[in-house]
Amino acid sequence: MAAVSARTRSLGTEHAFVVLAEVNTLAAQGRDIISFAIGQPDFVTPENIRAAAQRAMQAGHTGYTASAGIPELRRAAAAYLSRTRGIAVDPEHVVVAGGAKPFIMYAILAVTDPGAGDEVLYPNPGFPIYESQIRAHGAVPVPLPLVEREAFAFDLQTLRQRLSPRTRLLILNSPHNPTGRTLTAAELRALAGILADYPDVWVFSDEIYSAMVHDGEFASIASQPGLAERTIVVDGVSKSYAMTGWRLGYAANAVLAPYFSTWVTNTDSCASSISQWAAVEALTGPQDEHRAMMASFTRRRNLIVEGLNSLEGIRALVPGGAFYVWPNVSELCAMTGAADAEALRRRWLHEAGVAVLADRQFGPPASGEGHHVRFSYANSEANIERGLQRLGDWIRQARR
Ligand SMILES: Cc1ncc(COP(=O)(O)O)c(C=O)c1O
Repeated sequence: MAAVSARTRSLGTEHAFVVLAEVNTLAAQGRDIISFAIGQPDFVTPENIRAAAQRAMQAGHTGYTASAGIPELRRAAAAYLSRTRGIAVDPEHVVVAGGAKPFIMYAILAVTDPGAGDEVLYPNPGFPIYESQIRAHGAVPVPLPLVEREAFAFDLQTLRQRLSPRTRLLILNSPHNPTGRTLTAAELRALAGILADYPDVWVFSDEIYSAMVHDGEFASIASQPGLAERTIVVDGVSKSYAMTGWRLGYAANAVLAPYFSTWVTNTDSCASSISQWAAVEALTGPQDEHRAMMASFTRRRNLIVEGLNSLEGIRALVPGGAFYVWPNVSELCAMTGAADAEALRRRWLHEAGVAVLADRQFGPPASGEGHHVRFSYANSEANIERGLQRLGDWIRQARR
């Protein structure tokens, strides 16, 4: 029988999609499930952006575009990145693709060679596609633990230990999925101090949640002295403008942009022309709906964090950005006989009708870190209140 490659068989996945299928199956059986599992805004794309897409269709912008993207969007993204990161980004150094996600693959392909022992450091817990893609392209994944005692920032000591002459790429993600941790300018300065000793290491800064910071200002590693040149700044419209289905992201780096563009030619040819015109409107048009969505996410964050901390056996730190909270449920596991967060997740889904993701879905939990689950609070305040009520009832029953 014709075989499937080892690399394809060992591909990782995003468990949010697996849990979503479970939730849909239960819902089809008539179960009422409140889902905190999926990482996408529950709003529709703002009206002005949808109108821009319609105008693009009517104007006949329906063909291939340049692989790097339409000049209007590259200019808009360069201006946006320059303004929000305080660095000078040239439109020629911006490449557009079908989401922020493809740049994970393009960056790994652009700076590592398969089987050469090239190492890529990535956050653990972290977006599961990082590790999957590092492995798939024949590089060596080196997890960088984010620990609760550092409120899920990097332990700089460990970072120093894991950097080596074989390190090619360091993946950063702030605001972070799944912990919501947002790195401060001071923390990035400390990180930059360490990276100064490793001038050959590229930095992939996944900033897809940069416009979703609840407290204070977003800070990028690219703004640190000497780091703009070797940082691949990745952002997009998926999360901040509720455009996950439009598939539109972009990346900036002076050296790698032409290579990313060639990778786009080799894969998708270009991002959707209609989505590119919509993204121009997202970045340059009125921002009121974005601000209203963000205000709503901040209210929801406050509601869910306070609610979770009022439940017995659950302890949640306050996340600074994105729409995730990553509570420690070790005590609850012990109280209710759940072996780990995955066992708790299953029981919540089937017994309480509440869907979340478990820590192992973001990489193997580091020893001594205990058990965590991820709540995405991209859900209404009413559903957050109902979900918390269900969990409270479940805990009272399960601990007996
Ligand atoms: C950390 C992180 N990076 C990238 C992505 C993908 O973004 P996009 O939908 O723009 O490809 C996600 C989506 O969940 C994410 O959480």
